[in-house]
Amino acid sequence: MKSFGLSVLALASAAFAQTLTGAFDCVPAGAFTLCQNQWGASAGVGSQNSTLISASGNSVSWETVWNWANGPNSVKTYANVIHNTAKGMQLSAIKSAPTSWQWQYKTSSSGIRADVSYDIWLGVPQVGQPASSASSYEIMIWLSGKGGIQPVGSQILTGIEVAGHSWNLWKGPNANWQVLSFVSANGDLTDFDIDLKDIFNYLVQSQGVAATQFLQGIQTGTEPFVGNADLFIENFSVEVQT
Ligand SMILES: *[C@@H]1O[C@H](CO)[C@@H](O)[C@H](O)[C@H]1NC(C)=O
Ligand SMILES: *[C@@H]1O[C@H](CO)[C@@H](O)[C@H](O)[C@H]1NC(C)=O
Repeated sequence: MKSFGLSVLALASAAFAQTLTGAFDCVPAGAFTLCQNQWGASAGVGSQNSTLISASGNSVSWETVWNWANGPNSVKTYANVIHNTAKGMQLSAIKSAPTSWQWQYKTSSSGIRADVSYDIWLGVPQVGQPASSASSYEIMIWLSGKGGIQPVGSQILTGIEVAGHSWNLWKGPNANWQVLSFVSANGDLTDFDIDLKDIFNYLVQSQGVAATQFLQGIQTGTEPFVGNADLFIENFSVEVQT
């Protein structure tokens, strides 16, 4: 009886807003998993809490509140959602991958250093954890980058038009994979709506990424460096169609 009671409690609480406070806490969020991922927190002092607001189908709403000091050049966390099943297909097999993301800073201190970004993982094996020995490419899409922060590597192209937006493209190695980062050339994109297939096509046609690479994971979230902010994700949605 006791364990039955506990599992009912867990199910009941899953229906309501849940706040994660632990450094590596995660919670199921419909088609996604919401995680705190405070991998770089030891470079500074502070805290971060992330709240699942709602999830339905391939959409999720969540919020993260963070406050970090020291180590202004170091990422403290990647508070993020990862889609649990939008993965495992080769780029050549993807017909479309519509995504939309509406977000805002409800509050932020002056001079925050942070990005709001997609982190998409590609590799040779069909299955692979993000940032692992299975990773060949990390594709970042920065909808915002505040406080003069820069992606990994160096800027190789300025103002390219891909998926209906203008980007500065950065490239460089990290561990055993290559990082390609599309950074918005027109400031914050707070109401974003594209087909990721356009990004994949560009990578294959113009950046030498093999169409046989497997999509291993789609994450979206924020990398805070310093300052404090309340980032509200009103709605994030992604779907991969083969
Ligand atoms: C996160 O939650 C903890 C525990 O409730 C609290 O002490 C801390 O101030 C919170 N951090 C932020 C940035 O709100
Ligand atoms: C979130 O966005 C998706 C894709 O545009 C849409 O289908 C869904 O209805 C939206 N959810 C909410 C709660 O607005």
